[in-house]
Amino acid sequence: MTDIDWDELRAVATEAMHRAYAPYSRFKVGAAALVSDGRIVQGCNVENASYGVTLCAECGLVSDLAMSGGGQLVAFVCVNGKGETIMPCGRCRQLLYEFAIPGMLLETVSGIRTIDEVLPDAFGPRDLEEAAR
Ligand code: THU
Repeated sequence: MTDIDWDELRAVATEAMHRAYAPYSRFKVGAAALVSDGRIVQGCNVENASYGVTLCAECGLVSDLAMSGGGQLVAFVCVNGKGETIMPCGRCRQLLYEFAIPGMLLETVSGIRTIDEVLPDAFGPRDLEEAAR
C-alpha cells in the first residue's frame, strides 16, 4: 500500500496528543496508525507520579488496536505537543514491531522509513517460534 494519507494520520495523532496526560514532563505525545483493514488507531501518553510507570502514546495505540479488533499496522506516525512528527522511542519501536506488517512505514524526522530501518534485526515472535522447534 503506497497511498498513505500522512496528513490524515498526523491529524489523528495530533487529536490524540490533545488528550495526553503529561503533567510531569509537559511533553505531550499523540500517535496514530493505519491498520490493514483500513481503520485508524490512536493513543496518547499517560504519565504517572511514579515516573517510570508512564505509558507512552504507543502503548495506548496498541491497546486501541487490540480493543478495536486487532490486525496489523501498515503506517504509523507520532507527534509532539506542536503536532510535529517525532521519533518513537526504542521501546515503542519494539511495541510496534509486534503488530507491524513486513515493511510497515513510519513518518519520521528523516522522512518515510520502514520498521526494519528504525529497528534493524528486530527480535520478534518468529525468534520464539524458532526456539520452540
Ligand atoms: N513518549 C511517548 O509517548 N512516546 C515516545 O515514543 C517518546 C516518549 C512520552 C513519554 C513521556 O510521557 C514523554 O514522552 C517524555 O518522555
